[in-house]
Amino acid sequence: MSVVKSLGILAALAALGGLTPSAAAAQSGATPTFTKDVAPIFQNKCEACHRPESIAPMSLVTFEESRPWARSIKNRVGARQMPPWHIDKTIGIQDFKNDRSLSDKEIDTIAKWVDAGAPKGDPKDLPAAKQWPSEQGWNFAKQFGQTEPDLIIKSLPWTQKAGANDAWWKPVVETGLTEARWVRAIEIRPGAVKGRKITHHAIARLQQKETDDLAANPNDAAGNPLPGTFMEWAVGKQGEMMRPGSGKLMLPGSKIVWDIHYSNGGEDITDQIELGIYFYPKGQEPKFRQVLHLMGATNAGGGSALGSAVDIPPNTVKATEGYFLMRENGRVESFQPHMHLRGKAMSMEAILPNGQLQVLSHVSDFNFNWHNSYVYADNAAPLLPKGTILKITGWHDNTTANKANPDPNVWVGYGDRTVDEMAHAWVNVTYMSDADYRAELAVRKQSLGLTIDKQQ
Ligand code: HEC
Repeated sequence: MSVVKSLGILAALAALGGLTPSAAAAQSGATPTFTKDVAPIFQNKCEACHRPESIAPMSLVTFEESRPWARSIKNRVGARQMPPWHIDKTIGIQDFKNDRSLSDKEIDTIAKWVDAGAPKGDPKDLPAAKQWPSEQGWNFAKQFGQTEPDLIIKSLPWTQKAGANDAWWKPVVETGLTEARWVRAIEIRPGAVKGRKITHHAIARLQQKETDDLAANPNDAAGNPLPGTFMEWAVGKQGEMMRPGSGKLMLPGSKIVWDIHYSNGGEDITDQIELGIYFYPKGQEPKFRQVLHLMGATNAGGGSALGSAVDIPPNTVKATEGYFLMRENGRVESFQPHMHLRGKAMSMEAILPNGQLQVLSHVSDFNFNWHNSYVYADNAAPLLPKGTILKITGWHDNTTANKANPDPNVWVGYGDRTVDEMAHAWVNVTYMSDADYRAELAVRKQSLGLTIDKQQ
C-alpha cells in the first residue's frame, strides 16, 4: 500500500510541476483498459470460476459480461474477498503452492480501470481467449502413465433443485481397502460438467483407526477417530501431489467422510463427486509420512482438544487458543483453519524450543464459505525441530459487525451445526528423524543460497 501511496504522491508532484510531453504520455497510458490490462488478470485469476457453466454467479470472460459488475468487482477485489484467499498479506509466510490471490499491482490496475469508467480499450489489445482444458479428465493420470487413478471413490448422488437453498451433503463411503497403501496424489472432480454449477466446494475427509501414536487424532463422542481432511476442492483446483519422498497412508477399513456444499444452479442438477487416488507402487513406499493433525484452538483452558472451551457470549469478540507439541522434527506442509459462521480469524505460530516465537500464518478475514487449505511452497514450508509448540489462536465475532452472523444476541458453544462453533486447524506435518531433518535443513539452506552450517 505504501508503494502505491508514494507513487500517488509522485504523480501529484508531477501534476503540480507541469507535465513534460513524455510524462503526459506515460500518464495517459496509465489509464488501464479492459482489453489491454484487465482481461489478462481476469483470465488468470477469475475465469476459473467466473465463466459459463462454472460456480460463480456471472461470467467475466468478455468486456460486455464484465462491465455491469465493475463497481462490485472493485469492492470485492479491494477488500481481498475475491479471489477467495484469506491469508493476511502483512505477516507470516507468503509463498504458497496454491496461491490464487491478486498482487497489490493487479488490484490497483482493476481499481484504476473502474475509476476511469471501466473503458473497453482497443479490441486489438485483447489477448487470445483462454482455452480451458476439459476438466472432466483426470489431471495426473498421464504423468503416472495411467488412464485413471488407482482408486476412485464416489460420494452418493445429490439433486440440487432449481432455486433451493444451499445444502451441505455429508455421506460416508467405505474405501474398500483391505491393505495399507501409500498415496502420492489425489484429485477431486464433480462427476458431470453441470455439477460445477452447483458444487461450491467439496471436502473429502479420511477416517481411520491409527496404530501410530504420532498420527492419531482425538476421538468423537461416539469413540470413533475424527476424520481428517484428505483433500479440499473448489472450482479452479483439481489435485494435490505429495512432496517428493512423502505420502499419506491409507489404512484398511478406512472411510471417506464427505462434506459437500451445494448451491443454487438455476436448474435441477444431480451430481456425485469423485475422489481419485494414486498410490505409490507396492515396494516403493515413500520415506516420509505426511500426517494430518487436528490442532484445536480451544485446549489451552484445560478443555478437550475440541469442544468444551468454545464459550462465546452474545455481542462479543472472543479469542481462544490451543497448543500442539511436535514430538518429532517435522516440516509443516499446510494450514487450514476451521470455524463456522462466527469465525473471524485464525493464526498459527511456532514457539521454538529456544523460546523464540514465529508467526507462520494468519488468516485475518475468515470466510465460512471458503475452506481453503493454504499449502506452503517447497522452499517456504517451515522445518521445525522436535519440541516446537504450535500455537493456534481462533477469533470468533458474535457481533453485528460480522455480516455472516445469524444472531448476535445468543450465546454460542461448540457443535456440528453451522450456527454452533468450532475452532481448530487442520495441519499437515511430515515427520523426520534427526539425520533426515538435518539433511532437509541443508538442502533448504542451499536452495535459498544460505551458507551451510558445517557443524550440524
Ligand atoms: C475459486 C472461485 C472463484 C474465483 C477464482 C473468483 N471468484 Fe468471484 N465469486 C465466486 C463465487 C462462488 C461467488 C458468489 C459467492 C460469493 O460471493 O462468495 C463470487 C462472487 C464474486 C463477486 C460478487 C458478485 C455479486 O453478486 O455481487 C464479484 C464482484 C467477484 N466474484 C469478482 C471476482 C473477480 C474480479 C475475480 C478475479 C480477480 C474472482 N471473482 C475470482 C468464485 C470465485
